[in-house]
Amino acid sequence: MINKKNLWKTADNHNIEERMRKIQSAPVPEHIAIIMDGNGRWAKKRALPRVAGHHEGMKTVKRIAKLANRLGVKVLTLYAFSTENWKRPKAEVEFLMKLPQEFLNSFLPDLMEENIRVEMMGDETQIPSYTLKAVQRAMEETSGNDGLILNFALNYGSRAEILMAVKNIIQDAKNDILLEENLNEDLFSSYLMTNQLKDPDLLIRTSGEVRLSNFMLWQLAYTEFWFTDVNWPDFKDVHLFEAVEAFQKRSRRFGGLS
Ligand code: FPP
Repeated sequence: MINKKNLWKTADNHNIEERMRKIQSAPVPEHIAIIMDGNGRWAKKRALPRVAGHHEGMKTVKRIAKLANRLGVKVLTLYAFSTENWKRPKAEVEFLMKLPQEFLNSFLPDLMEENIRVEMMGDETQIPSYTLKAVQRAMEETSGNDGLILNFALNYGSRAEILMAVKNIIQDAKNDILLEENLNEDLFSSYLMTNQLKDPDLLIRTSGEVRLSNFMLWQLAYTEFWFTDVNWPDFKDVHLFEAVEAFQKRSRRFGGLS
């Protein structure tokens, strides 16, 4: 007997493949950065505790990382925990610090199968050792993968990052490792936590908030921004397609003329 539901599914899959092929026929952003916002509101709408929103948000990370990889995106940087997020209730902070462990334990086989490499940027000194260990293990195990770099911003703050760069530059200048006349934007960038990565081409922020919240202030100088009202746990494949399609329609002039 013909199963109507499966027929629809096949048609849906066909549409998705078609849309992906179309996106891939134009330049795909090499580096996408996402401020994953709205987990708390997603939970509140459903009368669930805030942490349920974070947990659902983790599932979105899995889906979107796989899709970005399939699209040919080279780097996906996700704002998972900011230097300001310590101000949240202790139980929520603890939950967020335990999420990487759960995420990486359950997702490592997929990461290997999909050839995805895990990276992390942020101040490691305050991060609990169990969190750091889980991330470091995933970084080690995936270090040979050469597909998407899944870069977690964990205890990351852009102002702190810039300040750290300035301090290290001063130190290197004092020790004659760096000459003032050689200091330019590229050299400055090499002191940032993103020194191995190109600047993001596309920034996505979910949940309707329109601000940067101390995220990659230096690196986003010429990035295209895309905002959506959708809360992060509700962010689906179609939303990533929409963001990338919008990006592909933009004319990037980097201060020059097209
Ligand atoms: C902002 O939403 C979200 C965060 C501070 C945490 C982001 C973490 C995840 C999406 C979980 C995935 C993490 C890993 C390591 C896989 P909010 O809590 O500020 O939402 P609200 O503004 O609606 O309250």
